[in-house]
Amino acid sequence: MGRWILIILGLIPGVWSGSWDVTYQNQCALKGTSVNLKCKYDYPYGHFLTWTGWSKVSDGGSLIPLTDLPSPPNHFTYTGNNRGDCSLRVNNVQSSDQGAYYFRFSTTLGSWRRNKHALLSVKELTTVVQPYTAREGDTVVLTCRSGCPEPTHIVWFKERQRVWSSVFQARREDAGSYYCAILGQETVRSASVALSVHYAPTDVKLSVSPSGDIVRGSMVTLTCSSEANPPVAQSGYHLYKDGEYVSSGQSHVTLDIQPRHRGQYHCQAWNNISWRGSDRINSSEINLDVQYYPMNVSVSVNPEHIVEGGRVNLTCSSEANPAADSYTWYKRTETIGSNTLIHVGSGQVLSLPSMESSHGGLYVCNVRNSLGEGNSTEVVLAMEASQHGTQSLSVLAGIGLFLVVMLIAALLLFRMKQKYEADTNQTKLDVRPNGRASSSEEPQDAVYSNIHILPSSPPPISNPYSPSASHRDLQKNTSRSSEVEIIYSTVTIKPSNRNAPHHKKSWSKGKEDDISVIYSSVVKSS
Ligand SMILES: *[C@@H]1O[C@H](CO)[C@@H](O)[C@H](O)[C@H]1NC(C)=O
Ligand SMILES: *[C@@H]1O[C@H](CO)[C@@H](O)[C@H](O)[C@H]1NC(C)=O
Ligand SMILES: *[C@@H]1O[C@H](CO)[C@@H](O)[C@H](O)[C@H]1NC(C)=O
Ligand SMILES: *[C@@H]1O[C@H](CO)[C@@H](O)[C@H](O)[C@H]1NC(C)=O
Ligand SMILES: *[C@@H]1O[C@H](CO)[C@@H](O)[C@H](O)[C@H]1NC(C)=O
Repeated sequence: MGRWILIILGLIPGVWSGSWDVTYQNQCALKGTSVNLKCKYDYPYGHFLTWTGWSKVSDGGSLIPLTDLPSPPNHFTYTGNNRGDCSLRVNNVQSSDQGAYYFRFSTTLGSWRRNKHALLSVKELTTVVQPYTAREGDTVVLTCRSGCPEPTHIVWFKERQRVWSSVFQARREDAGSYYCAILGQETVRSASVALSVHYAPTDVKLSVSPSGDIVRGSMVTLTCSSEANPPVAQSGYHLYKDGEYVSSGQSHVTLDIQPRHRGQYHCQAWNNISWRGSDRINSSEINLDVQYYPMNVSVSVNPEHIVEGGRVNLTCSSEANPAADSYTWYKRTETIGSNTLIHVGSGQVLSLPSMESSHGGLYVCNVRNSLGEGNSTEVVLAMEASQHGTQSLSVLAGIGLFLVVMLIAALLLFRMKQKYEADTNQTKLDVRPNGRASSSEEPQDAVYSNIHILPSSPPPISNPYSPSASHRDLQKNTSRSSEVEIIYSTVTIKPSNRNAPHHKKSWSKGKEDDISVIYSSVVKSS
């Protein structure tokens, strides 16, 4: 049926030349657009069109019918007619569509064979951002390039937001990804190109962790932060204390914070971008305070030289943060075996209105704040002058006493020597008959014996006089053996009364009753 229509149409005379011909127009298409490959053809009159078809020239040079190409439906649409127009529409052009296309047709009397083709080139939109790394304030120019010559209406987007001007002064918020697209055909777009805006550090801040009160000995971290592009490197951060450089690096850790770490700190950030002529940007200063219990507690005495009856002030001073809020004074009293602290006052100054000797002693000041307490060393409070007097007096007294003792000792010695000499003389005399033996040296232990021997009497039976024998020895010896028996007795011998019975031994037997000298009287009557 269609063929008959074609034959009928073919018979209708027209405007065409009536010779075999196909003319094409090369096309440039942006990827994603639709394009008409324009084509005109003709054939001699009297022929009837029997077949038309588009082919693509493969890489190897052979012709592949479009129907044999792997492509989505309606990708290629023939928009021509049976004489004159042989155009082909390509929808949603892809890069793979680029190439040479060939139109062929047949009539009842022949077919088009000449090797002429249409070229389709596929291009893309390309965004150029110049410069793609800008400093704040630099002029940035956006350019959209498409490889096809047709004038196209271009629009700009930054992250899906319309950009109204393709030339601008860079601000940091202009950083981002830009692309261009075809007005009304926004899916036809370039790839995104990033614009980076460099700027000097801003928002430079120094922070302290922990954030609350900082107590001596705790760990403290000082951290510098900033907003900058490019970001500040570790070495770009410097820490200052009271205007003096401390360290570099973003964080500064102090493990054991001490009072000496107190001060005004600030940090500096640098990323090689300057701002208003300065490339090292300071943070604002922060005050680092370190709290501690009272330390270095000391007591000063005023006046230095204390006089009896005078006013004395003891002033307690210390280093504490927060400031000391309590002072307590103690006096150390030392009694035998114990040692106690007596509370004697409070307040930073201990005032003794009238100094007297009982105020002398060791004083200690105890200081407190909310973090703890500290003690001063003990301070000696003494009245200098009077103490010196006492000391010299006692020394004098000591010397005097010593001299007196020595004198007495010397006198005693002297007397003892005299007595000893006298005694030895007496002993010699005593040995003689009728002599009297006595010792004045040891009166308690001395043994007295009076031996009176009358001229005709035999010598005494008892052993000789022994001045050193003690009374105790005497007692022991008497009970043990007769050999060492020492018998002291008063012997009276009367030569005229020989036959009279005489008491050889007669003394008190009681050992304990009489521990004194034993006297015995032996009466020998002649
Ligand atoms: C930044 O701090 C440094 C070091 O303390 C100081 O020398 C400089 O003057 C400060 N700069 C400004 C702008 O305050
Ligand atoms: C800093 O910037 C200057 C030019 O502004 C450049 O020559 C230098 O290499 C940069 N230094 C660094 C560490 O980036
Ligand atoms: C205590 O005294 C020492 C030595 O004089 C000193 O180094 C230290 O800083 C003092 N402590 C305080 C908290 O001032
Ligand atoms: C002791 O302190 C009192 C007040 O507390 C003051 O009036 C007096 O002058 C001070 N005396 C001395 C010797 O510092
Ligand atoms: C201060 O002295 C008191 C009494 O001797 C004692 O109990 C206390 O522990 C001392 N405090 C310090 C910090 O040495």
